[in-house]
Order: sequence, then C-alpha cells, then structure tokens
Amino acid sequence: MRCPGHGQDRRVPGSISSVRRALHTGRAPVRCSWLEASGEAQMDEDIRAEAAQYYDVNPTIPDDIAFYQACLPSSDAAVLELGCGTGRVLLPLAAWCGFIHGIDRSQAMLARCLQKVQAAAIPSTKARVELGDITDFALGRAFDLIIAPYRVFQLLETEAQVDGLFQCVRAHLAPGGTCILNVFHPQGGFEGVQQAWERATELCRWEVTVDGVRLRCDERWLRLDPERHILYPELVYCRYVDDAWVEDAVLQIPRRCYAPDAFEQVIREHGFRIAQRWGGYAGERYGEGPELVVQFSV
Ligand SMILES: C[S@@+](CC[C@H](N)C(=O)[O-])C[C@H]1O[C@@H](n2cnc3c(N)ncnc32)[C@H](O)[C@@H]1O
Repeated sequence: MRCPGHGQDRRVPGSISSVRRALHTGRAPVRCSWLEASGEAQMDEDIRAEAAQYYDVNPTIPDDIAFYQACLPSSDAAVLELGCGTGRVLLPLAAWCGFIHGIDRSQAMLARCLQKVQAAAIPSTKARVELGDITDFALGRAFDLIIAPYRVFQLLETEAQVDGLFQCVRAHLAPGGTCILNVFHPQGGFEGVQQAWERATELCRWEVTVDGVRLRCDERWLRLDPERHILYPELVYCRYVDDAWVEDAVLQIPRRCYAPDAFEQVIREHGFRIAQRWGGYAGERYGEGPELVVQFSV
C-alpha cells in the first residue's frame, strides 16, 4: 500500500528544526512531579520523546478496548497495564474496574497519559501511572488482571527481558489472576515476513488529517535478525507543510516475531498455564487472524 503523495518532495530530518518548533502544538508536556521525584527518572533516553505526539492519531491500532473490558474478572478488579503508553486502554478501563496501575518507560508517553487522567478527573484511588521498566519492577501489590495491549510483548528484544517480564508477571498476579499478552501474527511465518521485507524497503503505514494537518507514518525496514526472528523497522512520522512532506520524528524499535505455536511455547516455558487464546478482537480463531492474544495463569 502506498500513501497518496508518498515519496514526493521529502526533506531530511535535521533541516527542519525551525519548522518543527513552529509546528508543534505549543502545548508544553505535562510535568509529572512524581516522575521527577522518582529514582526511576534515571532510565534510558526516551526513544519516544518526539514520536509520542503521533501515537493517538494512528488509525491502524486494533479496536481492542471492548475485548479488554470483557476480560475484566469483576467491576472491582485490580488491573496492571504493562506499557500503558498514552493511556489509550488505561483510561476507558479505569471506568470499568476497581483500580488500574499503568507502567511505561517513556516519559513522553506517560505525560500524555497523565494529562488525560487529570483531564478526566480520575482519582488516584482509581488510576495510577508510573515510570518503570516492565521487565524489572516491584509494585508491592498483586493484580487480578495484567495486560499489555497493542503488541507490547514483541518490543522485548532479549531473552533476559522476556524472562524478566514473566518473573514480574508471576510476582504481581493475585491468586486466581490472569495475564493477557498480545503480539502480531506474522502471516506466512517469519519467512513470509522476511520475503516481504526483501521486496520493499519502505511503506506507508497510515495517513490521516487532524485539525486540517496531514500526518503520515512511513515504515522503513532497516535490518532483521533471522536467528532471533527480530525485525528492526524505523517509523518515520511526517507532516505536510507548504506542499511538502516534512519528517518530524523517527522511532526505531525491535519487533520480535512469534509464530502462533512459538508464542504459546514461550508462555508455557515460563511455567504458566494457557487459559484462552484468540486470533484477533473480532472473534477470529487463534492462528487465523491478524493478532495472537493469549490469556494465562500460574
Ligand atoms: C505500542 S505502545 C502500546 C501502548 C498501550 N499499551 C496501548 O495499547 O495503546 C508500546 C508501549 O510500551 C512501552 N514499552 C516498551 N518497552 C517497555 C519496557 N521495557 N518497559 C516499559 N514500557 C515499555 C513503550 O514506551 C510504549 O509506550
């Protein structure tokens, strides 16, 4: 799929700082006193510092809110969201559960989340968000449901990170509690993805117009690790300015690919029991839809 205008008159990043300054909304990010006060503020550089502003306009994020609502075990359930980002799922769930705690390592994503929590006047007894690493955290309490919507798990690149996440999940699940993880379904297996990767090196992921401004996300395919089944794309966010596309933010991420069997296997290998599985959020069977979604318990 090519976006209209794709490839036309593109300027390189670095030449646009003045344009970028002029274009940014002028809204200063919300300052999070709890972030600055926290020792966790010493985390790595925030790779989403610039890209976070584009997250909520992405029209391709699966419609998964009703799914997670339906998975709440009760209306007073305590929920933990790993990689809560801008609060896309956290905010609606806060209205339907007893308490939801979100953690994320991106200060820019969390600032947006906190801004929404404050704007919605959600009390801290209902929702809390915190800077932290989902592969290494200790919150001192247990949760009835742990979730990581929109493919957060596939962002974990190393075995140590994967092990760390499962250890933390185990330590934070209440008796009878469950965890739901999701990755995309690489149709045709990793080989199919690899072939597509070799056929094209750049594609348009989405394009939208927001408040009269055209915004677009292109994906450039940088490299892949065939041994560990990891893709390394670069997401390039652009605005349309003065009849030209201008690159505004670039986000490089790992995208680890799991075949349906491999995804279940990594969960079982970490000592969990699979309870349910889905192939997407529209009733697809596992392995037959665009997503792999697995619910498990200890
Ligand atoms: C694709 S977004 C998903 C956000 C949200 N769950 C949603 O469904 O809209 C992935 C998020 O995971 C966070 N993330 C990735 N790796 C992380 C890690 N090791 N620790 C904490 N957060 C992480 C990113 O900062 C980002 O906000």
